[in-house]
Amino acid sequence: MSGRETSEIGVVDQRPIDLGLLPATASLSSSGRLSVGGCDMESLANEMGTPLFVYDEEHLRARCREYRSLFGAHVTYAGKAFLCAAMVRLVDEEGLHLDVSTGGELHVALANKFPADRLVFHGNNKSTEELSTALEVGVGRVIVDSFDEMDRIEQLVGGGLPAPSVLVRVTPGVEAHTHSYIETGTEDSKFGFSVAGGAALEACARAAHSDAMHLAGLHCHIGSQIFVLQSYARAARVVMGLAAEVEKIAGAAIDEINLGGGLGVRYHRDDEAPSLEAYASLLKESFSSAAADAGLRGTPVLSVEPGRSIAAQAGLTLYRVGTIKEIRGVRTYVAVDGGMSDNVRPATYGARYETFVPARAGAERTLIATVAGKHCEQGDVLVHDATLPADLHVGDVLCTPTTGAYGYSMASNYNKVPRPAVVFVREGAHRVAVRRETYDDLLALDEV
Ligand code: LLP
Repeated sequence: MSGRETSEIGVVDQRPIDLGLLPATASLSSSGRLSVGGCDMESLANEMGTPLFVYDEEHLRARCREYRSLFGAHVTYAGKAFLCAAMVRLVDEEGLHLDVSTGGELHVALANKFPADRLVFHGNNKSTEELSTALEVGVGRVIVDSFDEMDRIEQLVGGGLPAPSVLVRVTPGVEAHTHSYIETGTEDSKFGFSVAGGAALEACARAAHSDAMHLAGLHCHIGSQIFVLQSYARAARVVMGLAAEVEKIAGAAIDEINLGGGLGVRYHRDDEAPSLEAYASLLKESFSSAAADAGLRGTPVLSVEPGRSIAAQAGLTLYRVGTIKEIRGVRTYVAVDGGMSDNVRPATYGARYETFVPARAGAERTLIATVAGKHCEQGDVLVHDATLPADLHVGDVLCTPTTGAYGYSMASNYNKVPRPAVVFVREGAHRVAVRRETYDDLLALDEV
């Protein structure tokens, strides 16, 4: 059988595993065993336990380098996608800037000696304490998000802290055609200042004339998991129009415009995501033409802030099957030892994933099943309509590709499930980047 066939209970997807969803160094042996970074995935699961996040270090580095080759030094990795000590160091070694959006992310970056001048500090509600640390250590950019934040910066600088370089975050009023929870460029957004409503111009004028901050430019992030590239072109046009007005008021050129992150990735074989090259060329073209049409004094630097498109495909999750429950005429549930505590994206955004057995990736797959987690919620589903080998059995290891972004970083201890370990694989070796939580870790914060 090949292709898709309709059965009584759904569509049997017999197409071979799509290696395009896996990290760059993924390969299948002649017997269909999956290796990544030269490590056999089932053996790694046996050795390290499950659930297990596995990152292909070469893939992560290659994505950083591709971004740098397309955008030069003006690439900021969005740490919210996936951050830990190993990732902070990798991002530093690859010469990227790092976006931190809370005091916690800032702390992790600084504790791992990330150069402060390459930190970009975000947040729609930065506390005085967070801002104070950011100014004290001298972060490269503060992305100003509200008038209250400007008040706080002015107070802190008035109290003796150094004045930061800021980008003013603006909402251009464009749709990104993505899930509403991750759409941030429309008028109804908790982030930034509205261009259409005039708040953006007011904020820029205030920043330009304030002694407590240096206005370096503008920032605009319209959303995440974006497939419709034209949304960026529309945003660039609005932001350039604003930049021209700001230049008139400030009497100085706008140096930098950061168009955020958001490039979508493939999670499912049927997804068609734009390539990084297509995204870069559209961004650069629309950026320069919008700058020329707006009549700016010079051409500002274009900077970008990718998270998902660096980390998602580099990572995968390994689970072990614990029970297989067939409800005749209804559905088969395959339950694994993780779930919404390590991947909340299906439950939150209805995200679609694929899954397969890494020890026999070439096996015929005729079992249609719902892969569920172990949490006490019916909505704790990882993969709807998975197509798995008919002889799937308890104890098999399952692999879910493209979990490298917003998987571990959104993990929780729901139902007191310890968070998985994270390992980096490279050239046949693995190293633990984050150790597995223990039951004792679950008690560590409790006071009796
Ligand atoms: N810059 C800013 C200001 C952001 O808010 C974000 C993501 C990024 C850059 C990076 O966007 P990316 O390149 O990763 O799309 N938890 C959601 C995604 C939330 C995105 C939050 N902001 C998910 O799992 O889909």
